[in-house]
Amino acid sequence: MPVTRLVDEHDSPLYVFDEETIRAQCRAYTTPLTSNYPDSLVLYAAKAHADPTVASIVASEGLGMDTVSSGEIRVGLAGGMPPERMVFHGNNKLEREIEYALAVGIGRIVADSLDELDLIEDVAKRREQIAPVILRITPGVEAHTHDYIRTGAIDSKFGLPLESGAAEAAVERAMHASCIDLTGLHAHIGSQVFDLEPYADTVNIILDFALEMKHRYGLNLRDFSPGGGFGICYGESDDPPDAHEFVITISHAIDQRNVTPKPRLLIEPGRSIIARSGVALYRVGTIKDIPGVRTYVSIDGGMADNIRPALYGAQYSAVIANRVSANKLETVTVAGRYCESGDVVLRDINLPPMVRGDILAIPAAGAYHMAMASNYNLVGRPATVLVNDGTVRVTRPRETDEDLLLGFSQP
Ligand code: LLP
Repeated sequence: MPVTRLVDEHDSPLYVFDEETIRAQCRAYTTPLTSNYPDSLVLYAAKAHADPTVASIVASEGLGMDTVSSGEIRVGLAGGMPPERMVFHGNNKLEREIEYALAVGIGRIVADSLDELDLIEDVAKRREQIAPVILRITPGVEAHTHDYIRTGAIDSKFGLPLESGAAEAAVERAMHASCIDLTGLHAHIGSQVFDLEPYADTVNIILDFALEMKHRYGLNLRDFSPGGGFGICYGESDDPPDAHEFVITISHAIDQRNVTPKPRLLIEPGRSIIARSGVALYRVGTIKDIPGVRTYVSIDGGMADNIRPALYGAQYSAVIANRVSANKLETVTVAGRYCESGDVVLRDINLPPMVRGDILAIPAAGAYHMAMASNYNLVGRPATVLVNDGTVRVTRPRETDEDLLLGFSQP
């Protein structure tokens, strides 16, 4: 499907998602799990890209969903995701969200702190319901990734640290709580992780802890989750393991421990399911050459639809979609349209000389772009479309100026 046609018909910026790639990525996890660890569930982390259509695709591939708000739970339900296949995460779930999650019959609530455990117990008591709870443990594992997306170390806003005794206190409290069914333990060490060892370490640390908790409080580990965070390739310098290598590392680490009965394994890939299925398409606008300094090529999107370069220094590759094979290259900096000097999408990238109207395509744009998009400068968010075998479907229309104005009250 020519992207030039997609941009002609749907305007730009445009986020194009490919259904077959989403399905292939789901299977990249489910296939090796079926043979290595059958009692498992892959939870798509909806924070990467929350959309009912995506929820329905991953549900049809047998996946569940990791959610972090009542909004994401609703997206799952709207996509036909069975509530019992959804897990509710977050370091500060609101009382009404816990209420909602219990009302719709969410599969598991992941308690992030002692305080939250009490809140879940209170809400469940009031509803005369037993809340199925997993505890999020901070294992003290260092994953080599950006500080903002690292979560497994002790100094993190997420989880119950092992070292401080909070994790054990939570197990004890949950085992004695009348409206909590403690089903297992979870840990998530960070995102865009390229090493396998931190996952094997996490398995060992959590299983050691589970064994101790079994002896001390009778914990029966029915669910075990080493989280998600499996890295992907954004550009030539990235060389992440394949999905099956993550799966095999984790399942072998559990197998080596001879835990009986074996817990159900939950894994939570977000980015690695959706990132590569998405391509961002922009039109080139103003080109400003500062002789001897640099050439700025401005596009019609930027930090409001992709905050990742500004927030994490994330690097991407790009092609001129209407002239992919052009071979004369020049070094330029691609800037966004937003009123902020830091709105630079691609710094010092080699691309063919561009002219106004060219279409710039950025691959691996499916995760944490539209999900983190804003209306900065009061610009509407781009449309998203889903392509599959020659068909195109708009999954989210472009926000217009009128849509944005309707969001305000009349003065
Ligand atoms: N499970 C938990 C508990 C998480 O907190 C996360 C991500 C995931 C799973 C999924 O991680 P993934 O497989 O997608 O890496 N906005 C950042 C990433 C923030 C990730 C937050 N938690 C970025 O654009 O890199």
